[in-house]
Amino acid sequence: MATTPENLRDQVVTAFGATPDPRMRELLTTLAKHLHDFAIETNLTVEEWLGGIEFLTAVGKMSDEKRQECVLLSDVFGLSALVDFLNGPQDQDATENALLGPFYVSDAPLMENGDSIVQQHEGEPVRLEGRVTGKGGEPLPGAQIEIWQIAANGQYDGQDPDMVENNMRGRFRTDDEGRYWLVTNRPFGYSVPTDGPVGRLLDVLGRDPMRAAHIHLRVSADGYQPLVTQMYDADCDYLETDVVFGVRESLITPLEDDGDGGFIARFNVRLAPAG
Ligand code: BEZ
Ligand code: FE
Repeated sequence: MATTPENLRDQVVTAFGATPDPRMRELLTTLAKHLHDFAIETNLTVEEWLGGIEFLTAVGKMSDEKRQECVLLSDVFGLSALVDFLNGPQDQDATENALLGPFYVSDAPLMENGDSIVQQHEGEPVRLEGRVTGKGGEPLPGAQIEIWQIAANGQYDGQDPDMVENNMRGRFRTDDEGRYWLVTNRPFGYSVPTDGPVGRLLDVLGRDPMRAAHIHLRVSADGYQPLVTQMYDADCDYLETDVVFGVRESLITPLEDDGDGGFIARFNVRLAPAG
């Protein structure tokens, strides 16, 4: 039988179909099929294929534990947001999830409600408060809220060697009524790193490299699914164009003037039951 692009694709899919593990087989055969269909549909040239290989090589060279260009590539393709979406709480009543991002650390210092996470680089003060509840609205006392955010100098603590460790990070526990409250800075939009191959891709696409202004939260309580989410500032100009497609309407939160030079944000969290 003469080889055609389609039967070459089918041969590859069949060969990959010999993978013994069923889930791995599904992933690899589907990937091979879509990759071949992409090349067939676009009539991919040798130069274009080589360009792609060079691009991926550059992405790989710029990836280590500190600088995750591969993750950034997945982010700007909206793949990270899609995977989050597919794996988020299926429960309509639960708070929506959002990207973890590259700056989470699991052992932020435990603080008291009312404490400020701003150790360095004061910005516009915000009192962030809310309640953590379960599906039926029942308060969850002792729930853990981990919070992290960019500092007013435009860097996360892991990016800036001169920044105090754990600046703009903290871990809080809800009180008997499931409430938490803390002080932080008003978030602002910031650019993802553009000095690598993903920056070049954004240039080609003519895309703004800005993330919408956000505060990261991870909320966990016994018997409930942990939630990774972000609170978005309703006044931010980049909500529609967030470079990593992370914004969910239900997470957009107004910041009210507190009449004293600062703001108040209320962000309630509803967790889905575990299992
Ligand atoms: C962030 O939310 O901090 C982030 C997410 C994706 C890429 C870069 C930064
Ligand atoms: Fe972030």
